[in-house]
Amino acid sequence: MTLLLVGCGKMGGAMLEGWLDQGIAAKDVTIVEPNQDAARDYIQRLGVNAIAAADELSDGYAPDVVVVAVKPQIMADVLPPYAKLVPEGTVGGPVFLSIAAGKTIQSFEAILGSGAAIVRAMPNTPASVGRGITVGCPNAHVSEAQAALCKTLLGAVGEVEWVTDEGLLDAVTAVSGSGPAYIFLLAEAMGHAGRMAGLPPELSDKLARATVAGAGELLHQSPLPAATLRENVTSPGGTTAAALDVLMGSHGLKDLMTEAIAAATRRSRELAR
Ligand SMILES: NC(=O)c1ccc[n+]([C@@H]2O[C@H](COP(=O)([O-])OP(=O)(O)OC[C@H]3O[C@@H](n4cnc5c(N)ncnc54)[C@H](OP(=O)(O)O)[C@@H]3O)[C@@H](O)[C@H]2O)c1
Repeated sequence: MTLLLVGCGKMGGAMLEGWLDQGIAAKDVTIVEPNQDAARDYIQRLGVNAIAAADELSDGYAPDVVVVAVKPQIMADVLPPYAKLVPEGTVGGPVFLSIAAGKTIQSFEAILGSGAAIVRAMPNTPASVGRGITVGCPNAHVSEAQAALCKTLLGAVGEVEWVTDEGLLDAVTAVSGSGPAYIFLLAEAMGHAGRMAGLPPELSDKLARATVAGAGELLHQSPLPAATLRENVTSPGGTTAAALDVLMGSHGLKDLMTEAIAAATRRSRELAR
């Protein structure tokens, strides 16, 4: 399996380290890194091949998969030279696996050709600690073997779900793509509230951070639904119940989160236009 990684920043770099940890051979990986000087140490440490631009790809280079992890704003400038990897008029060629937020399958087909095999995926930043969740969506040209390869690559940095309705990816972006920010905000808000309740700032922030991280780990390890875990720590008439009366009251956290996720979903649709 040979792999070309276009864009080796936060997400691309996290995935690359995951692949190497999982046993993909560095010699089979080529990264496109425009700033070779800045990345020299990194490239040497990982032992992957690195080129500065697509025009350095040797004639006949035919990777099995091209992972596209550049910022969405520069996609239209970056991608066109990679269209040469898609054989004209025949099926075959690599599968392009994009993790760019909001970039539709159609926008890739417009650049790479309508016969290109494309998987649009939405990961999230816990991928950098191997705890991401990614949802992938293939176009009609992706073979079963290519889908399996993409799932394996995405699985190196966390869980993978697969959908065939691309329209779902806006809501996926709103829930899991943007979701880590909501959880960081929760830790911020709890730290602030603890300070307001009289705790020393440092202690309050530490309690909030450890509580969010610890509860997240408990949720990760437990087979129980989140609602059951919540009920298990809520005694009738107790302190948790007093807080939850506020959080679950009219226009409480569920309503607010529903509004927030609807706003993010709308924004994802707007950005894809
Ligand atoms: N971060 C997230 O939370 C998140 C979540 C889900 C999806 N994503 C998606 O992941 C993608 C990457 O995001 P990121 O946060 O990893 O961004 P990033 O850290 O800025 O990474 C992008 C990388 O692409 C490189 N690059 C720029 N021009 C290039 C070119 N012509 N050829 C090859 N590489 C080039 C950049 O190099 P320079 O730095 O030298 O310009 C940088 O290393 C985005 O499309 C984003 O939508 C990100």
